[in-house]
Amino acid sequence: MQKTHLPRIVVLISGKGSNLQSFIDAVQMRVIEGEIVAVISNNPGVLGLERAEKAGIPTQVINHRDFADRESFDAALAEVVESHRPNLVLLAGFMRILTPAFVEQFEGRMMNIHPSLLPNYPGLHTHQRALDAGDSIAGATVHFVTHELDGGPAIIRAEVPILADDDAATLAERVFEQEHLIYPLAVRWFCQGRLALINNRACMFGRPLPPTGHPFSTVARER
Ligand code: GRF
Repeated sequence: MQKTHLPRIVVLISGKGSNLQSFIDAVQMRVIEGEIVAVISNNPGVLGLERAEKAGIPTQVINHRDFADRESFDAALAEVVESHRPNLVLLAGFMRILTPAFVEQFEGRMMNIHPSLLPNYPGLHTHQRALDAGDSIAGATVHFVTHELDGGPAIIRAEVPILADDDAATLAERVFEQEHLIYPLAVRWFCQGRLALINNRACMFGRPLPPTGHPFSTVARER
């Protein structure tokens, strides 16, 4: 029998790894037809590493505190990531800003999820900022990683309502539910060869997606 080679996925984390868990579950359920070949964390002892170990996925810690500067950390990280020959690199709560050299090396095969409706609120404290601004909707966006921080071409986004009695924690919880749906879906599309970065646009079957990404509500039924 011919051996099929599943797309190789490397996941970079810094913390609790709930998005990582959504990939692990989706791979186990064959929603993602790919293989998570390594989970790498810049922080030791985090829950995400435990989740990976429990699923039998090799883990590695590359602690940025052991490096003199961002460039040398990123060079070491790039070498380890590349050694796994990834088709796709997933940033899943990876809380380090990456150097242009790293981004360039993995461009077109690296995604991130950001807990806001990009281009609104790149950076930190997105939920508090949406609340402070009096917004009525919030959400999350999966995007290809390019030079712009939290600003690469959007793939898919999900919206949630902001309720009158929300604080940052309750809103985050509502957004997380959507994150765990849309990120595995984007990974599924990529592994199927439907999704690609072409001329700095996220494209499905070669056609550019809307600049803010595919709205999740309209794809929920067409998985
Ligand atoms: C998520 O909110 C994600 O959008 C952001 O970092 C958080 C990671 O959470 N980039 P987890 O580690 O996946 O639970």
